[in-house]
Amino acid sequence: MLDKKPSIQFYEKLENYDQFASEHEYAVPEKIFDCLIRHIEKHKLVLDIGIGTGLASIKLVDLGLKIFGVDGSKNQIEICKKKEFAQKLVLHDLSQGDIPSFSLTFDIIISSGVFEFVLDLNQMFKSVRNILNEDGLFCFCVRELNKNSHIETIKVNGMLVDKNAYKQYGILCVHYSEQEIETLLKNHKFDVLVKDSFTAYVSPTNKDLMFNLLYLCK
Ligand SMILES: C[S@@+](CC[C@H](N)C(=O)[O-])C[C@H]1O[C@@H](n2cnc3c(N)ncnc32)[C@H](O)[C@@H]1O
Repeated sequence: MLDKKPSIQFYEKLENYDQFASEHEYAVPEKIFDCLIRHIEKHKLVLDIGIGTGLASIKLVDLGLKIFGVDGSKNQIEICKKKEFAQKLVLHDLSQGDIPSFSLTFDIIISSGVFEFVLDLNQMFKSVRNILNEDGLFCFCVRELNKNSHIETIKVNGMLVDKNAYKQYGILCVHYSEQEIETLLKNHKFDVLVKDSFTAYVSPTNKDLMFNLLYLCK
């Protein structure tokens, strides 16, 4: 049975994620798309890790790509299914960093707004490496530990997590330094093609800034 992590429960209860994302001026899916678009040529199969309602991958369909997705929230997957653009959607808890088998390998793997809920990013990068084709692209975002961030973090199980999300919802929303991410990427033999950073508001009512790192690797 699916062990429902607080991060999954949070999204499970969101009836209209797309509206929530728009109200939060949620920019990660667009950033991922803009980053990928210049690099897409012959690639065909895309895996969207933590696809949610599909905001990060839906536009790739117009470029002739086939989308597969995995997410821990049944509700978000149902909404995504109704948009009828994905080849296959799988319900799975990603927190331990493993990816369910699609009996396929992929040309592009993306993840938007999800790796903060993955508690073993080393295992996640290993899983991605195993199912990414040679010369395949891996594009993802993480929450950055940044001295200018207004988000307070606390240490839980050795990880630095968003204090408010943890206290309010029990959600472990992990923040990483640039160095941590780049060491992990190097260990899994990913070369960084593009690196970007951007800020976003914490919420429509809370204009504190959170910092994000975006990577395109191969
Ligand atoms: C911020 S939303 C991002 C959704 C989509 N990628 C996007 O960019 O719009 C976070 C997503 O992560 C999923 N999620 C959170 N914790 C998860 C977990 N432990 N396992 C699988 N999915 C999880 C949620 O269900 C939600 O769909």
